[in-house]
Amino acid sequence: MKRLFLTVATACMMMTAMAQQTFFTGGGHVMVKDKAQKKYLLLPVQEDRDGANIQVICNNLTVKSLNVKLAADRVDYFVPLDIEEFGGQNLVFDIEFWGGEKSTSEVKNYLCWTKIRQSESFDTQNRERFRPAYHHSPAYGWMNDPNGMFYLDGVYHLYYQWNPYGSQWENMTWGHSTSKDLVSWTPEQPAILPDGLGAIFSGSCVVDKNNSAGFGKNAVVAFYTSAGRNQTQSMAYSTDGGKTFVKFSGNPILTDESRDFRDPKVFYNEDFGRWNMILAAGQEMKIYSSQDLKNWTFESSFGSGYGCHDGVWECPDLMKIGDKWLLICNINPGGVFGGSATQYFIGDFDGKRFVSTQKTAKWLDYGKDHYATVTFFNAPQNRRVALAWMSNWQYANDVPTKQFRSSNSVPRNLFIFEADGDKFCGSKPSEELLRLRGAIIKQPTEACEILATIKGDTKISLSNTKNECVTISYDQKSKVLKFDRRQSGNVQFSRDFAAETSVKVPGGSKALRIFIDKCSVEVFDSEGKAVMTNLVFPAESYSQITSTGCKTTIYQLNK
Ligand code: FRU
Repeated sequence: MKRLFLTVATACMMMTAMAQQTFFTGGGHVMVKDKAQKKYLLLPVQEDRDGANIQVICNNLTVKSLNVKLAADRVDYFVPLDIEEFGGQNLVFDIEFWGGEKSTSEVKNYLCWTKIRQSESFDTQNRERFRPAYHHSPAYGWMNDPNGMFYLDGVYHLYYQWNPYGSQWENMTWGHSTSKDLVSWTPEQPAILPDGLGAIFSGSCVVDKNNSAGFGKNAVVAFYTSAGRNQTQSMAYSTDGGKTFVKFSGNPILTDESRDFRDPKVFYNEDFGRWNMILAAGQEMKIYSSQDLKNWTFESSFGSGYGCHDGVWECPDLMKIGDKWLLICNINPGGVFGGSATQYFIGDFDGKRFVSTQKTAKWLDYGKDHYATVTFFNAPQNRRVALAWMSNWQYANDVPTKQFRSSNSVPRNLFIFEADGDKFCGSKPSEELLRLRGAIIKQPTEACEILATIKGDTKISLSNTKNECVTISYDQKSKVLKFDRRQSGNVQFSRDFAAETSVKVPGGSKALRIFIDKCSVEVFDSEGKAVMTNLVFPAESYSQITSTGCKTTIYQLNK
């Protein structure tokens, strides 16, 4: 029998169908014996059910452990479990359902047993309405933070927090995509998979030009959090330019007593002549230094008395821009409009201590859907190119997509500017986005850019034939830019979704650049002095525009 086809048609505790045998051993525990015959085992998922843990056992050894919401009475989508490497071998899928004791009669009736099947292929065709046209999104499955971003030999590498076995957060793995232009992305093989030390949480990569770690000249060295019983830091290296990684045998390389101890960002500090690492520990950032990337010396902490502390600090970044240093500090919850957001501090850094006179939070983006922002290591011309995860932990698991969930922001170049007697970090859409501009069109489409030159108090409404709309407004006197998505379409899936966001543009705004892509709207002051990123889920795309106080030009964006 070629296909794995499990049936529960008989009431026997053990059923035999050629090679497969299914054992219902009580208490929500099921064991399936089968031979690996094809590339994938396709698992049916139902998102509103309890999860199950599946241990894949080969020759009496656990070779994989994953958590999946196996379908009980409806299949939302399938996810592929790659079993090719076990071709021809007998496997045991040892399945335990969560969510309290389940009777054998209940479990036997689950739909999954008739739907699970082996297959040579898995369909990743893009058929979802909200799949972005020019933003990065995973081929399938859940995505959160961008990880390990670096540039080498003409290629941008983006790793990301990925669940290969469902479109909600689980099974954290580093997925991988590459791009030559920051807008067209090619999916690559998963880069770093969970292991005995834990799931693979967020982190960073460096290109070790001078072989300080001893893994080879130009080895790509990844730093990530092993999320096991504790959160500890681990490293892995790649000698094929970031395609495949070997985990360092001396992991973990850094431990701590903090419960939240994660997201290492490593960079080479030219001024200091050493490597620095910054990572999040509770509500502060810890800074370390190293000569060899393996042994790290604690230098200092930053955080107490600075910025917003209404949540856990996560995903830091630290970089020199001109003669100042920018410390990026993502926080969740406690963001400017609730949930997740990115705050920053401008200051000085001598390789040991970050100091800032800025005591209150400033936000990198004043929308609701811009989180876990970090920058590429080694970007050309010393550009500080940032990407964010375009979602918010308040509702990220519930947004109305299925086969994939979440995308990244457009790439942005960060810079520091002065206005109103203060210093700010600005974000400009990266120049690569200009190349997407196609024909000038009269009405907006699902993938377009609107350039609005401000002439007075401005109001721009984007709407569709279902009376759904978003409204963007700018008040010249107060310099306040607003974005209202309360009537934008489907806002029902979370009480935190319907919202109006606003920002006072430092120095005021002369023009706006508005990027629309299927389920997102990013509004930039054209000089990058302020930006708002918000998701929208309209029943149909916004095809009409009305505006007052500005002159608009709409460009179709084509990849
Ligand atoms: C931020 C975060 C990180 C963590 C990762 C886990 O969104 O919570 O702190 O490493 O997600 O997926």
